[in-house]
Amino acid sequence: MSIDSTQNHINPVRPDPSTGSGLKADVEGWAGFDKLSPNGIKNSSNSINNCLLEVSDLQVAYGGIQAVKGISLQIAPGELVALIGSNGAGKSTTLKTLAGLLQPVSGEIQYDGNSLKNIAAHQRVSMGIALVPEGRGVFARLTVAENLQMGAYSRNDKSEIASDLVRMYELFPRLAERKDQLAGTLSGGEQQMVAMARALMSRPRLLMLDEPSMGLAPLMVKKIFETISDIAAQGMSILLVEQNAKLALQVAQRGYVMESGAITLSDEAKELLGSEAVQRAYLGG
Ligand SMILES: Nc1ncnc2c1ncn2[C@@H]1O[C@H](COP(=O)(O)OP(=O)(O)OP(=O)(O)O)[C@@H](O)[C@H]1O
Ligand SMILES: [Mg+2]
Repeated sequence: MSIDSTQNHINPVRPDPSTGSGLKADVEGWAGFDKLSPNGIKNSSNSINNCLLEVSDLQVAYGGIQAVKGISLQIAPGELVALIGSNGAGKSTTLKTLAGLLQPVSGEIQYDGNSLKNIAAHQRVSMGIALVPEGRGVFARLTVAENLQMGAYSRNDKSEIASDLVRMYELFPRLAERKDQLAGTLSGGEQQMVAMARALMSRPRLLMLDEPSMGLAPLMVKKIFETISDIAAQGMSILLVEQNAKLALQVAQRGYVMESGAITLSDEAKELLGSEAVQRAYLGG
């Protein structure tokens, strides 16, 4: 079954005078959102009906080295899910595979009820899957404005793109001040904002963030995480990969713990925060 692309974009985001955040998703337009509780959380962490993303027994290898060893995970519409784990656990490999940048050895990825097998990375962007990669991956020699435009390459609705640009500058006023600056000359935090805004310009339904806090000063981490919370609160599904497990579990509804290519724990985020095993391994407890 092919995917109806009209179903796969959030409805136009509109400036929201009540919050001033400028990114207000029209949740009416989100497939399946009405079947969830108001905050998008399902009761059981193990069985989500009607998920936006369902990964089953996914295996990914680099040559002979297996980096992801048969993981399964689910994300409901509107859910913020954290994927935590130490260096080399396979988190980035998982995100790249979901984005279509790596081919799995085996396993199944269902997105909005459709298999992503043989769907190329650029098609996944059109379907509403956006990745903010580890290290941000901004186009250093392009300006902030040009980077944001690049995020909309899969779209051809010119006037809507223009109004989304305005919304991005409302969401990240720092970028508005620096529209014409080359992205390579921005600070790390500003580059993270560019990477997030660029991903949002594709109007994703599933936003995947790989280590957004990496290398940032505490105040900038706070700002970035507030923005992630705001976007999630407006109904977008988010898969958040973080080494800062505490921060990730504080904003997420559910979490998965990944170790050596396998998922070893999954639960409500607050349960994971309180878990002795997680405290010992990831929270310095
Ligand atoms: N291009 C590659 N070629 C070969 N092996 C790779 C490649 N990329 C990653 N790996 C290996 O796959 C494993 C998982 O790496 P991955 O980058 O997914 O981990 P991660 O959980 O994102 O770690 P980190 O928290 O350090 O970013 C590691 O052992 C890594 O060395
Ligand atoms: Mg990584």
